[in-house]
Amino acid sequence: MSETNHLSLKKSLDLVLKSATEELNQIQSYEQLMVQKSRFLGKKGPLSELFKTLGRLSFEEKSLQGKEINLIKEELESLFQKKQYELEEQTLHRQLAQTYIDITRPSRSAWQGTLHPLTQTMQQMVEIFTELGFAIATGPEIEHDFYNFEALNFPPAHPAREMQDTFFINEQTLLRTHTSPVQIRTLLKHKPPLRIICPGKVYRKDADVTHSPMFHQIEGLWVDKHTSMADLKGVLQTFAKKMFGEHTRIRLRPSFFPFVEPGAEVDVSCLFCQGHGCRLCKHTGFIEILGAGMVHPHIFKAVSYPKEMRGFAFGMGVERIAMLLYGIDDIRLFFESETRFLGQFVSSLPMTLETESVLDKDVL
Ligand code: PHE
Repeated sequence: MSETNHLSLKKSLDLVLKSATEELNQIQSYEQLMVQKSRFLGKKGPLSELFKTLGRLSFEEKSLQGKEINLIKEELESLFQKKQYELEEQTLHRQLAQTYIDITRPSRSAWQGTLHPLTQTMQQMVEIFTELGFAIATGPEIEHDFYNFEALNFPPAHPAREMQDTFFINEQTLLRTHTSPVQIRTLLKHKPPLRIICPGKVYRKDADVTHSPMFHQIEGLWVDKHTSMADLKGVLQTFAKKMFGEHTRIRLRPSFFPFVEPGAEVDVSCLFCQGHGCRLCKHTGFIEILGAGMVHPHIFKAVSYPKEMRGFAFGMGVERIAMLLYGIDDIRLFFESETRFLGQFVSSLPMTLETESVLDKDVL
């Protein structure tokens, strides 16, 4: 009985192994593998069924046949495991083939920032004036009415204040409307002679395509015993040529500013038509770039300078100069932080911390 029993068990096991091997050869996917695995090795599979038949046998037979079933079970498990590895490897190869990496492709160049066009223009301007012997002076953006207006010969409630409508913090403090207050502060601190430029941010209640509530200025002041209108003209002519090109000419027109007498508005010959007349210069051949004049005696009096002192001053907007230089027709482009705009102004100047501090530091 045990002999026949044993033989039929062997047959059954061989059959199971054979049909499982055949099935395994057909399998194409992980899902199919799982189905077949549970079919052969699961609780309702042929091996479990064979284990159930052992109950009726003697102890020796039970352990003998049990071992044989277990051997086949282990073999099946390892066959299924091997197939699973095979399938996983195939999937990996397929995925790798899909993500095609071209290692011969040139790398993207590293992205490098540039200095803001206004910073570049400001530095260029500062450089020209420092070459002419001007020192850099800076001061606060929140100013006292005294420095911004009163000491500059704008009496309280004088209509000239309206030219520079601004943002008041309270009745006496305001956001400076020009960098001229830095000139007053410097005159009060230093004895003549002196020659300074004052670069910095200024504020006015003004906003359109050519005006921004915040903009930048560079103002200049030269005080000595014999400075004259001719010196003023010479300095500005030199500046215009260095900034816009050798062919540039300047023109002075009489104008009013409370802190100068005589006062002038200064034009440069049109950069686009070289003074022949075009749409940009409204067919005048000239474009206005700054205000200037001889320092008013009231200013020297306010800062207790000797009577015989003479001086000239000038002031200009950095945005206006940059717009002319680069042909920009909307001032707002400077402040929108749009990299497609800003990226066009690749700087030839080194981008170091030092270049920043030139503008931040009071060198006087
Ligand atoms: N401070 C004047 C302004 O901001 C410019 C200026 C400076 C005019 C010096 C004359 C002399 O409008």
